[in-house]
This record gives sequence, structure tokens and C-alpha cells, in this order.
Amino acid sequence: MTSDIRRVGVVGAGAMGAGIAEVCAVRGADVVVVEVVPAALEAGQSRIEASLGTAVARGKISEGDRDAALGRLRFSDSYDELGDRQLVIEAVTEREDVKLSVFQTLDKVVPADGLLASNTSSIPITRLAVATGRPDQVCGLHFFNPAPVMPLVEVVSTLLTSDATREAATAFVAGTLGKSVVQAKDRAGFVVNALLVPYMLSAVRMLESGFATKEDIDTGMVKGCGHPMGPLTLGDMVGLDILYGAALSMYEEFKEPLYAPPPLLSRMIEAGHLGRKTGRGFYTYE
Ligand code: 3HC
Repeated sequence: MTSDIRRVGVVGAGAMGAGIAEVCAVRGADVVVVEVVPAALEAGQSRIEASLGTAVARGKISEGDRDAALGRLRFSDSYDELGDRQLVIEAVTEREDVKLSVFQTLDKVVPADGLLASNTSSIPITRLAVATGRPDQVCGLHFFNPAPVMPLVEVVSTLLTSDATREAATAFVAGTLGKSVVQAKDRAGFVVNALLVPYMLSAVRMLESGFATKEDIDTGMVKGCGHPMGPLTLGDMVGLDILYGAALSMYEEFKEPLYAPPPLLSRMIEAGHLGRKTGRGFYTYE
């Protein structure tokens, strides 16, 4: 196993996969993005180009750095392109059956000494690890949305993750990517969501009970506590289906009422109001 990871794969080109691929490429890694849905592959590519454009416009990187980053990115619909990768980060849809199948495929195509990581926020890393023949080389790398901007990554170790894997993954995230690292154990919610999700659910309950308006709940936390956005705006940005999935997995794990998704959240998901990505959540979007 190499401690100097330069060749990275990212599976999934949604908001998180694209963001992770962008961060890796900007920071000098050679990146292959695999996405089997053609429209999603195209959308992921456009998303990265737009985000790099914003980074240039904001003076975060030069035009030369942007062009170099784009030159280090390749997009493919085939897992075979991952045959020389030292680390592959999975960021596909948050469904256990889909992720299990991805990990089984990765185990076949990624070199035997390659590391496999998942960006899941709610599925136990251990279950993904034991689906491979290399559970000691599997860990969680949990990025935050939007990945190009948020400076934290949780490195999640299971009972089976080797010290060498944890150290190589941490060195890559802290060194190559320049992100801050929090070490977490393989428990639903890790560190950050275990604190963030009950807070966001409390905001939904407060709205549902009629105690305060959505605007006052959000303004309260922005102006009263210095948060960059209020909990309901944040839910819309993250995706209410993602919030619901994270809450449910934490509730199943700990059986604590504070993690139980409130009925309003369930109804919004059934109605297709998933937040910004569907144009409607707690707020409406163009
Ligand atoms: N590339 C690089 N930098 C970028 C960028 C890009 N594409 N887009 C914006 N930036 C930079 C800006 O230049 C700015 O940098 P500066 O502070 O040094 O000037 C900074 O990012 C903020 O950008 P903006 O000014 O455009 O935007 P806002 O000030 O409105 O911030 C936000 C937007 C970063 C999303 C902020 O509102 C925020 O931090 N919100 C909270 C996000 C959060 O909590 N995320 C975690 C969600 S939970 C999660 O992901 C876990 C999952 O499992 C559920």
C-alpha cells in the first residue's frame, strides 16, 4: 500500500462525487470519475467546470490552475478505468444495495493494494468492507457539502480497518487535499451528523408544531448564533432525502427519539419536496 496517493478514482458524479473529484484534481491528484448513467456523467462534468469557474472568479485559483485541474480529470462510464488507482472514493446514491454492488466491483478492478473509501453519511462502513476481499483496506471518507468549500473530512475506521489504511487516508486528506481531519468510529452519524442531524430535526419539529415560522427559525440561528445558514435552508441545500436517510439510520442504530424523523419530513419526501434539487423544500427555488 502506498502512502503517497496520486492516482484517485471517484465513483458517482452527483453533487458529492463531482465536488470530491474537483477537490482532488485542484490539489494535484490524477482523477478518474466513473458514472454509469450518461446524463449524470455529463451533469457532473458541467458541475465541476462551473464550480472551477466560480473558484477562478472568486480568486481562489488562477485560470492556469483551473486548466491544469481539468487536465487531471477524466470521465468514464466504465469501472475498467480504475485498474491503476491507488484510492477509489465511492459517492453513489445513498442505498446499501447499490453501494454493496459498487464495492464488489471495485474489489475486482482496483489493484490489490488499493484503498477503497465510501463517502456515505449513513451506511455502516463495516458492511461495505466485508463485501470485499480487503476489509482492512476500506474506510470512510465523509466530505461535507459543498465539498470544494467545506474544509472538513471525517476519516472513519471500522474494527477491520488497518492502521496503515487509516494513516494513508488521513495523510491524503490532510496533506494532499489540505482539509482538516476528524477521526471517527463506524457509528451512524460519525461525529458531525450525530450532532447536526438532531439539531436540524428539532428545527423541523419546531416548524411542524407551529412554534415559529421557517424564516424566524433560520434567522434565529444565523443572527443569533453566527451559523452561515439556518437549519431549514441547510436541509434544503443538503437534500431532505439525505437528511431523512441519515436520521433514520441513526434512529435504527441508537433507538433514541431525538433521531426519529418527524412526520412533516416524511410527508415532504413522499410529496417529492426534496429541497433545492427539486425546486421545492421548506423554500421554493427557481
Ligand atoms: N470553489 C472554491 N471556493 C468557492 C467556491 C468554489 N466553487 N464557491 C465559493 N467558494 C468560496 C468563496 O470564495 C468564499 O470564500 P471566502 O469566504 O474565502 O471569501 C466561500 O467559499 C463562501 O462562498 P460564498 O460567499 O459564495 O457563499 P456563502 O458565503 O453564501 O457560503 C456556504 C455558502 C459555504 C454553503 C455557506 O453558506 C455554508 O458554509 N453553509 C453551511 C454548509 C454546511 O453546513 N455544510 C454541511 C452540510 S452537512 C453534510 O454535508 C453532511 C451530509 O452527510 C449530510
